[in-house]
Amino acid sequence: MNRFDTIADLRRHLSSLRSTHKIGLIPTMGALHEGHTKLVERAKQENDLVVSSLFVNPVQFNNADDLARYPRTLDDDYQKLEAVGCDVVFAPSVDEVYPEPPAIRLNFGELETQMEGAFRPGHFNGVGIVVGKLFNIVQPDRAYFGQKDLQQVAVIRRLIRDLNFPIELVRCPTVREIDGLAMSSRNRNLTPDERQQATRLFKALTLAHDLLLEGQSTSQSKAAVKGFFNGNPNFRLEYVEVVNADTMQPVNEVLAPGQTAICLAAHLGNVRLIDNLVF
Ligand code: PAJ
Repeated sequence: MNRFDTIADLRRHLSSLRSTHKIGLIPTMGALHEGHTKLVERAKQENDLVVSSLFVNPVQFNNADDLARYPRTLDDDYQKLEAVGCDVVFAPSVDEVYPEPPAIRLNFGELETQMEGAFRPGHFNGVGIVVGKLFNIVQPDRAYFGQKDLQQVAVIRRLIRDLNFPIELVRCPTVREIDGLAMSSRNRNLTPDERQQATRLFKALTLAHDLLLEGQSTSQSKAAVKGFFNGNPNFRLEYVEVVNADTMQPVNEVLAPGQTAICLAAHLGNVRLIDNLVF
């Protein structure tokens, strides 16, 4: 596995390989778990060369504490990537990626007014800038993103379309722990007690899903989820929404199979968790 921490060295390495190799890119912020390594495994199957990035992107954090607390486990990450056969790792410093603060601002229109866009102002600007940089630096044929961050997938889809990146976006299923909790780098920051309680996120999604399939309205299902968290002082539900799984806009009824998503975000202690179900 080749490791690079400068843009110039990574570009030089990839330029000789590009004409003969299909390149798959997996952008990450490190603290890797099976949700990440599954993306690498999928990319290995579909490309000749797999590039992963490890970079905690300060520009996408709208909360300084969240950035400071974000887990950093670089040596462990290298080992995990090597074990799944990743070919190239790019782990730049903040100065390498941002020699000066970016002057441009990206706004993803109606995606900004919903859910993560609404509750984390500026977050998708930061995601779009760093992913745009990675697309230009690596110039992959395919880029792999997890359904865990469903709205991020919608943002990247718009980035690719609006700026004509010749890149195929591949959305990969959410990887869960045995008890249903979606794997997340932030799970490491949960206390053992919070970790047990965190299963309620997936239970709440399942509840809403079952109610919708029984014919209850979207507002009834959302009310049931709110009730499910009410009375548990450890949780602070930020939002629960039933949306179109591609556009992320709220819907009032269940759409065709695979088109409807239930999304939620909740604070558990100091940790903010998100999850979704597409059905
Ligand atoms: P990060 O949270 O490290 O996630 C990197 C990729 O792994 C994302 O595409 C995310 O959706 C995916 N992922 C995380 N947990 C997953 C799970 N349990 N199952 C499946 N996929 C999962 O998302 C980011 O980093 C950043 O915003 C980034 C795109 C790297 C830009 O900085």
